[in-house]
Amino acid sequence: MDKLVIEGGVALKGEVKISGAKNAVLPILAATLLTDKKCVIKNVPRLNDVYTMLRILSALGMKTDFCEDTITVEPSSRRKYFAPYRLVRTMRASFCVLGPLVARLKKAEVSLPGGCIIGVRPVDLHLKGISALGVDIEIESGYVKARVKKNLKANNIYLGGEFGSSVLATANVMMAAVFAKGKTILESCACEPEVVDLAKFLKKMGAKINGEGTPCIEIEGVNELKGAEYSVIPDRIETGTFMVAAAITHGAVQIKNFIRGHLSCVIDKLEETGLHLKMYDNAALIKLKRRLKPVNITTLPYPGFPTDMQAQFMSLMAITPGVSVITEKVYPDRFMHIAELNRMGAHIQREGPHAIVQGVRQFSGAPVMASDLRASAALVLAGLVAKGKTEIFRIYHLDRGYEKLDKKLEALGARVWREKE
Ligand code: EPZ
Repeated sequence: MDKLVIEGGVALKGEVKISGAKNAVLPILAATLLTDKKCVIKNVPRLNDVYTMLRILSALGMKTDFCEDTITVEPSSRRKYFAPYRLVRTMRASFCVLGPLVARLKKAEVSLPGGCIIGVRPVDLHLKGISALGVDIEIESGYVKARVKKNLKANNIYLGGEFGSSVLATANVMMAAVFAKGKTILESCACEPEVVDLAKFLKKMGAKINGEGTPCIEIEGVNELKGAEYSVIPDRIETGTFMVAAAITHGAVQIKNFIRGHLSCVIDKLEETGLHLKMYDNAALIKLKRRLKPVNITTLPYPGFPTDMQAQFMSLMAITPGVSVITEKVYPDRFMHIAELNRMGAHIQREGPHAIVQGVRQFSGAPVMASDLRASAALVLAGLVAKGKTEIFRIYHLDRGYEKLDKKLEALGARVWREKE
């Protein structure tokens, strides 16, 4: 296994291009199961999670080709409807093949995804929505066994959960409903840009969908979908991560190819800390205009502050003089990075869903352990500004969701490299 080594203390300077969005491309790849025609997906990042989804598609009888940043998908042999535990357990988004399999093949056997380090990650809303479309669902030996009773039928479905809306449940049920006769109305849907991107891809395939990006999505059933060519949106979380990298190192970074409206809340909060963002046509220059100051955040479903930026923001607040409170409302246990940041000299205390961050003058480099994708990013950010050398172990977590993050940081002047553990 690799570890990442960072010599801190360099103010990042230069230009970085944002890759395609992991959380948009994964459900879009699942959506290719809805047609027997060829689909071409562009602006795809080279991530381990993308390779996992390609393995699942080929286990389901699809032929895939990944050349540069473009993936081509078309049926190879007999279509299959069994998604095995050994693949689904490694990546929760693979549970999104359930909706398309049920819609296209009228049956599916998909392993339950299980939890992960950031939380229990239930799928009750996925199952509630799909069964409301006329699908029999049984849970047996850790698998969801789904069969369409007669025909998929349209329905009014409320998808709100205890913690608000669910991104992948909205995606899964929207895909399951594209062939349901009549008009399906989904309420309390997730409004994330990645859900909108999936809906746009489905509409290019011929689906009849309205309301994507709002809590109420309407789907008029059609008979079949054709193949489509589609380019995925830029990754808003990678964008926010590089904005924090510029702020935490007191650098000046030109970020290209991002969509400002996809992370307005993050930009607003970063500007509140003292960051200055000068917008050009499709780029922005990010640099500090004054000393950083502490800012409180609470994570919420879109358009609120994204939970996927919580750990990165915590690294910035941990090195900012003063006290800030970070409240995690989406995954109340998503605080694995606190212990590791404290090992680097941070003063962070957890109080239930709150983290009380007392900014320190300096981090000291240390050997630290990555625990999940965004916690890994938080440790990288802390290492960029720490005194001395930081070694980050288990960086396979990082490689799941960031395309060549170390190479992009190195191009901005960071002293970062990989070594065998
Ligand atoms: C998506 O996960 C993202 N993953 C996550 O990004 C992101 O953190 C999350 O949305 C929230 O924005 C992908 O898109 C691949 P949820 P998802 O269903 O859809 C509860 C990353 O770092 N819930 O929106 O699985 C759940 O427990 C990853 O890129 C139910 O109660 O998250 C949580 O509290 C991590 N029942 C809340 O909803 C359900 O059936 C939001 O979860 C489903 C979810």
